[in-house]
Amino acid sequence: MTMKRIGVLTSGGDASGMNAAVRAVVRTALYYGIEPIGIARGYAGLIDADFRSMDYNSVTRIMREGGTVLYSDRCDEFKTSEGQKIALKNCQKAGIDGIVVIGGDGTLRGAGDLCKLGIPCIGVPATIDNDITATDYTIGFDTALDTIIDMVDRLKDTSVSHARCSVVEVMGRGAGLLALYSGLAGCACGIVVKERPFDEERFYRKLKEARDSGRRDFTVIVSENMGEQFAEELCERITQHTGIFTRFARLAHVQRGGVPTVRDRVAASTMGTEAVQLLMNGISGKVICERHNDYVAYDIDFALKLDALYKGKLTVQQIEAIPRDEYLRMMEIIKEREEEFNHIHKINKFYTLT
Ligand code: ADP
Ligand code: F6P
Repeated sequence: MTMKRIGVLTSGGDASGMNAAVRAVVRTALYYGIEPIGIARGYAGLIDADFRSMDYNSVTRIMREGGTVLYSDRCDEFKTSEGQKIALKNCQKAGIDGIVVIGGDGTLRGAGDLCKLGIPCIGVPATIDNDITATDYTIGFDTALDTIIDMVDRLKDTSVSHARCSVVEVMGRGAGLLALYSGLAGCACGIVVKERPFDEERFYRKLKEARDSGRRDFTVIVSENMGEQFAEELCERITQHTGIFTRFARLAHVQRGGVPTVRDRVAASTMGTEAVQLLMNGISGKVICERHNDYVAYDIDFALKLDALYKGKLTVQQIEAIPRDEYLRMMEIIKEREEEFNHIHKINKFYTLT
């Protein structure tokens, strides 16, 4: 089918770099003589037919803007078959032949559903969490890390002055990668993530040893995936067990905004362009993934199943139903993810408190 009109939407938690992806979709479509249609507010805009025609100038200068010019939303109605039927009708009425869907794993799930209804979709992974197992990278991760490190460095200044420990909670509902990377780059004394056991007694011992050796500042990074109160409560326990004064900082949504880094601009531009080219070539139901510094397109179903397997959300029967070669490929990717955690953890152990 020849693509005459391609829609583009951003959905779920916004991420810096989403605009660069929108820009790439619009400019690539125009280059090939395809009309780009902006769908506002993610899947909510698909249900409300909140469509806008995009031209060359509608994406001028957005590369450097955080957030998303198309706006985002979390739309429960779209999870229902009634909502999806309305979305389908609106697409047909507007002559939208395919959609580039930019967002996290929930957003990809929606794209998978749209494909099954007959609307070709390509997913572009964008979430600060970097929690989509199939891809080494999701748009927004690098910018969020830069923001976290900026905040952590500032906290360090005051921690040294006052001989305190800062317990910093960072985002990452689905994965502790933001904590892991920012903990390493921020020279944290402790990184606490759900993916690894946390030996609290040993941690207190090391803190006391460092304090006794003359160290004044301490930074502990805790992922929000440890649960809502964990970081705040840990803060109190550190004082009780070590006598070091602590302060708690939840960085929250400040991590989601800001001018995108070069890493995010380049990844988003490449993925947005690839997405349009795939649709033009009659390919759909794929998500663009970064793997070993290259780009590949995996089936959305494969990516979602891999995610569920990695996050331990599949039953034994479901695992057994995965074809053997597919399962082996999945295990290879999972192994790489675990090695990443191990590797960073080891480096961090080496640096901390030295
Ligand atoms: P993210 O895409 O960042 O993971 P969400 O999980 O909130 O964020 O998902 C974004 C949107 O994608 C949801 O608000 C909903 O509209 C759609 N979505 C999420 N899960 C599904 C699903 N299982 N089926 C269809 N659509 C979904
Ligand atoms: O998925 C991205 C993310 O920023 C998570 O890290 C965080 O838990 C969540 O979104 C916050 O969502 P909301 O913007 O709805 O508060």
